[in-house]
This record gives sequence, structure tokens and C-alpha cells, in this order.
Amino acid sequence: MGAVTTYRGHAAGKVILLGEHAVVYGSPALVVGLDRGASAELQLSDMAELSLGGARHPLGSAASAESLPARAFQALLQLFSAPHVTARVTLELPPGAGLGASAAIGVALARALTELTLARGLSAPPLAEAALAWENVFHGNASGVDTAAAEHGGYLWFRRGSAPEQLQPAQPLTLLVALVQSGASTRQMVEGVAARRAAQPARVEALLAEIGVLVEAARLCLLAGEHAQLGQLMSRNHRLLVELGVSTPALDHAVNVAEAAGALGAKLTGAGGGGCVVALASAAQAARVHEAWRGLGLSCWPPSS
Ligand code: MEV
Repeated sequence: MGAVTTYRGHAAGKVILLGEHAVVYGSPALVVGLDRGASAELQLSDMAELSLGGARHPLGSAASAESLPARAFQALLQLFSAPHVTARVTLELPPGAGLGASAAIGVALARALTELTLARGLSAPPLAEAALAWENVFHGNASGVDTAAAEHGGYLWFRRGSAPEQLQPAQPLTLLVALVQSGASTRQMVEGVAARRAAQPARVEALLAEIGVLVEAARLCLLAGEHAQLGQLMSRNHRLLVELGVSTPALDHAVNVAEAAGALGAKLTGAGGGGCVVALASAAQAARVHEAWRGLGLSCWPPSS
């Protein structure tokens, strides 16, 4: 028997610097890709199955209709007109914490499927389209910001429906992330904002519009290296996310503690309802912010920092 070919893909996780939720309604977002993300390995097989962090999701079984990862994988296989494959995904990020684990998995799988499809002499669908087919099974109304960050990495300017733009910051940012509590479902958080927008359109539209203005200003700060001002914009963005109803007391506390420890700014990142807080610090203050978070019993991410 010949050796079985393995097709591979990798993709980045992400931290949203500013603009989550408003980005769903057409405002821009500023997002940074992380070094860590997800890796996928794919092999032709006589059965279709996704193995994710050790949990197996076989396709075509009664249980697979209930399994979101199995349904999302099925959507990807259909888009690629792929034959039966087994896929194994290794995650380098905490899942469900707002760091883009799901998008990283989708993009890593789509990359591996692209390799397989090209090896079969067929043309593959655009990566962004494939990644969204995966992501929409989980999120329903994903803006595409997470999958764009997973695909491109780096500092990204993203607006729904437009090609993302890579930004070159004047100086790299010192970003710190604390894992505060387990995250809520992105779908539910996005639906919650939609429900509040329907109930109080003027109030919620004003919040979303102000977030959009902050993101535009943050872009200029990033490009000019004005980190103190960028930090203030992040903290203001957090206050608006609180008013939008997507923060929690634990996230607010982690933001306040980071600011009191000398961070230039801090905010929840991702859909909220739990998950992570991101802080921007000067290189000199970073250790103090980490220390303050550890004092709260929070783990900082990446784990080695
Ligand atoms: C989730 O990381 C970001 C949200 O804005 C949802 C989305 O844009 O798809 C909450």
C-alpha cells in the first residue's frame, strides 16, 4: 500500500483591538492576528470525520446533525466538492474565549482542503468564502472579521464586505491578554445586540456609530505610533460595549485593574459575555499589568509571558 498523503493548513487566532459588534453593522474594526492559532491535517479516507482537540465528530451519523463542528465541516466539504476525508485539528488557543479559535480552525481546514483540491487538479473556492461557510454555522451572522484575521494575520483594518487592509503600525504594540472567564456563545451575544437594537434603535445606533468613530481614530493613532491615545480609545470602546450590554462584572473588573496598574487602555475583546480582556501597555508597564491580573487569579495569555 502506498503512503497516504497528508494535506496541511495553519491559521492565526486574533485579538480585536476595537470595533467588535459594530463591525456586524458595517463599521470598521481593528484586529491583530496572533502567532498561535490552529493547525489542520487532512487525509483521504473511506469515511468522513473531524477530530477536534481529541473529540471525534463523524459525519453522516444521527449525532452529526446535532454537532456544530460536524455540520460546519460538512459545509466545507460540500463547498470544495471534496471526497471523504478525515481531518485532525490541533488548537493552540483557548476555545470560546474571544481569541478567534473557531475562525482559525475554519481557515486551517479550508487551507488543507485547498491543497487537497488543487492536488486533485480541481479549482478551489476563495479561502475567505470557505472560511465564512464554516463560521456561519457557529455564528449565524458573522461579519468575517475573525476569519479575515485568521487568514491574513498582522494588523488588519476590516470592514464587512470589503477586502481587508494590512496596516503597518509606526511601532509594534505591547498587547496583553487575560483569560477572565469562559466565554458566551458569539451567536447569542450578536443576537442580544440585535434584539436591543430592535428594541431601542436610536440609542443602540448611537453607540454603534460612536464605536465606528473610535475605530477610525484608532487607525490614525496606530499609524502614527500614538499609543497613549490609542489606549484611551480602547478604554472608551470598552465603556460603550458595557452600554451595549455585552460586558460582565468580571470583565469590567479586569479592565479597571489593568488601567489602575498603568495600562494605556484596556477592554473586553471579541463577543463578550465572558472570555478575555486585552490591554495595551508601554513596555515598561507590561509586567505590572500582568502582576495585577495574576493577583486577581487570572491567567495571562500567551501562557509563557
Ligand atoms: C467576534 O469576534 C466579533 C463580533 O463582532 C462578531 C462578528 O463580527 O462576527 C462580536
